[in-house]
Amino acid sequence: ARAHLSVGADFTAGTVPPRLFGSFVEHMGRGVYTGIFEPGHPSADERGFRGDVLDRVREIGPTVVRYPGGNYVSGHNWEDGIGPVADRPRRLDLAWRTIETNEFGLHEFVHWARAAGTEPMMAINLGTRGVQEALDLVEYANHPGGTAWSDLRRRNGDEDPFGIRLWCLGNEMDGPWQVGHKTAAEYGRLAAEAGRAMRLVDPSIELVACGSSHSAMPTFGEWERTVLELAYDQVDYISAHTYYEETDGPGEFLAKAVDMDSYIESVVATADAVRARGRHRKRIHVSFDEWNVWYQSRHRSGGIHQQTDDWAVAPRVIEDEYSVTDAVVVATMLHALLRHGERVRIACQAQLVNVIGMVRSEPGGAAWTQTVAHPFRVMREHARGQILDVRARGDHYDAGRLGDAPVVDAAGTWDPDGGTLALFLANRDLTEPAEVRIALHGFGELRPGRAEVLTAGPGQDRHTGNNETAPEAVGMRPLDGVRIEGGEVSVTLPPLSWAA
Ligand code: AHR
Repeated sequence: ARAHLSVGADFTAGTVPPRLFGSFVEHMGRGVYTGIFEPGHPSADERGFRGDVLDRVREIGPTVVRYPGGNYVSGHNWEDGIGPVADRPRRLDLAWRTIETNEFGLHEFVHWARAAGTEPMMAINLGTRGVQEALDLVEYANHPGGTAWSDLRRRNGDEDPFGIRLWCLGNEMDGPWQVGHKTAAEYGRLAAEAGRAMRLVDPSIELVACGSSHSAMPTFGEWERTVLELAYDQVDYISAHTYYEETDGPGEFLAKAVDMDSYIESVVATADAVRARGRHRKRIHVSFDEWNVWYQSRHRSGGIHQQTDDWAVAPRVIEDEYSVTDAVVVATMLHALLRHGERVRIACQAQLVNVIGMVRSEPGGAAWTQTVAHPFRVMREHARGQILDVRARGDHYDAGRLGDAPVVDAAGTWDPDGGTLALFLANRDLTEPAEVRIALHGFGELRPGRAEVLTAGPGQDRHTGNNETAPEAVGMRPLDGVRIEGGEVSVTLPPLSWAA
């Protein structure tokens, strides 16, 4: 296949939002317990944080981590996770039919986030709880002292306020599976009132209203419209979530970013329509706070809740093992987010550890990095400065229900301060290499820097992944043959590959 791309230093689409490279830790399966937290593990510190997992998380470098759910948050009592661990209650977690021991709670998460060098993003429970509990939590977390809740935080070991700026007003409240599920009007009013009150406690916070759980929800569009009509002044972001898997062959799967592009554009258009109707000045941004490849159909026999023994502590839940193909799809999802970075200001890959995780860890054993973490790490490191408006011509293919998709999918950034142009290129063709030529306009003299590629190596195929015995089977390898000549970059991408 062939593709001709064109990029220019003056043709940009906003600045790269640092929070675009976020992730998510939910109290679900082994995300927390035996994931980021395992007292007694040989690598654990005095707080029980697994050092081997932390090392991998620091390397991947999520800039923000959402917590504690997910569906879990809609039945969560934040107060259960504070104070002496021995006194913390064991509770039924109705979202995942497990037992929550509450050994890991708010203080532990904030300290873990500091150790990981990431910003905490807290979700409040608007399923079984409401305005008062949200107020108590913001006061506990962010008020300096001299009140009942803030002084309790200090007695519990943290003199200084946590200063948590980002707050999600519930999770997937449009989903009938959600504990405390609501109609758009019920939720929109609650989100507005919770948000308004939370800001009275701490005016510096940023608030995310729940959008749809995915774009195929029957209420998609109408949900966003109603919620924003009711809560526009109180919120800063509307959320989006999506998970993709291979159901109709690799061609369609590899083109899922086409769907993600259109999903984002629909949410932005809906938010802007509400802005126009309400004569609002500010714009609502998108928080794409759950996205990934997730093989839901493999796990689902009779509903997501039927996958575990009932009421176990930290069972193995949706521990997907990712392949080369999945890594290329995830890379193109990152391209879609980056292309829309002017409006998508937050995004959280879901999830960080074990549960559809970038990192895997075994109880008492090893930790390793999955294939999908590589494009994330590389783009988090190199996508800097201005988002390039990449113009593309080239071969297309039939991607089934997604229509015609470009074989080569691209995104890029230009950092004028560092003088660095970063290009991210995926070849969706399973068997043929792609010849890519990129015309450069207005960047001055450029020299080739680093070029790396993720693809199936010798003896591997598109299904190859990393596991405990071969933790580095798939990763970034040097890409040879990148040339810059006469204002043009030329490169050959191997079949089914992603290059930076
Ligand atoms: O990330 C797994 C689950 O997917 C989350 O708990 C929920 O918000 C979504 O449906």
